[in-house]
Amino acid sequence: MSKILITGATGNIGFEVIRFLNEIDSPNRIIAGVRNIEKAKNVFQNYPDLDYTHFDFEDFDTFDNALNGIDTVFLLRPPHISDIDKYFKPLILKIKEKKINQIVFLSVQGAEKSKVIPHNKIERLINENGLNFIFLRPSYFMQNLTTTLIKDIKTKREIILPSGKAKFNWIDIENIGEAAAILLDKFDDYKNQAIEITGLENENFEKVSALINESIDNPIRYKNVNPLRFFMIKKRDGMMKGMIIVMIFLHFLPRFQKEPKISDFYERLTGKKPTDLKTFIEREKKQLDKQ
Ligand SMILES: NC(=O)c1ccc[n+]([C@@H]2O[C@H](COP(=O)([O-])OP(=O)(O)OC[C@H]3O[C@@H](n4cnc5c(N)ncnc54)[C@H](OP(=O)(O)O)[C@@H]3O)[C@@H](O)[C@H]2O)c1
Repeated sequence: MSKILITGATGNIGFEVIRFLNEIDSPNRIIAGVRNIEKAKNVFQNYPDLDYTHFDFEDFDTFDNALNGIDTVFLLRPPHISDIDKYFKPLILKIKEKKINQIVFLSVQGAEKSKVIPHNKIERLINENGLNFIFLRPSYFMQNLTTTLIKDIKTKREIILPSGKAKFNWIDIENIGEAAAILLDKFDDYKNQAIEITGLENENFEKVSALINESIDNPIRYKNVNPLRFFMIKKRDGMMKGMIIVMIFLHFLPRFQKEPKISDFYERLTGKKPTDLKTFIEREKKQLDKQ
């Protein structure tokens, strides 16, 4: 039995990874590395076998103890951490010092194309330190609709973005969590590969809004704005400057890029088709409609 440390355990992906490790009856010991153990215990009430350790990306003193006896790390970058040299370099060095030689890193589709994005820097750090890795590179989360974008949907019945007609590939985080759980369990079979994981549909926000409207009673509309206007709207709404810039980066740049590539990795790994947008919207329609 090996020991797997899950970082970002209480977030979108981390939670799904733990849920699926449980579902596939992983023989490994799973340890959630979290900032607040009490809060995490509440999140994982239904997972009595889960262990916890105090781990904070921004507190280097927590690294040594959290990594004790660990064989494999599921690593993700919390969205607000972009200074990779400051936070991830010491962590990767500590992982190496502890002779942990298996990392599954949640990256992003296209990470290899841009040296400036944080995921690219983290992938290079892992490579340069000679650690065995699996880079899992997902496309655009369907759950952005029910997290980052939900406030505008609920309060304004709008999706406000600078995306024009750019098409995104939409993936369900449940599919990512399931794939990551299998990769953690069968690390040797996939080691030292960068793997793209996507859904089957490339669609723009106009089309996705129309799909949502087919399932709900109170329609929403997609409002395309230029990046400057987006910045002003979000600043007025109280969003942090760094987060607004990340949102612009993520939603404006695809206007100038080719459509995302569609990968069949999820189906090859699990024998199932990934979730389609219609199914996701139907599943989450209560959240997307007006209460
Ligand atoms: N959204 C997309 O479409 C998309 C697509 C591809 C890739 N990605 C990548 O996915 C990653 C985000 O994953 P996610 O959506 O699962 O994130 P998330 O839901 O925002 O969760 C972040 C997790 O990190 C934890 N965390 C935050 N700060 C921490 C710290 N200082 N120390 C320890 N833990 C900390 C949070 O724990 P607490 O409970 O303590 O807050 C939470 O568990 C990003 O790297 C993003 O670039 C996103």
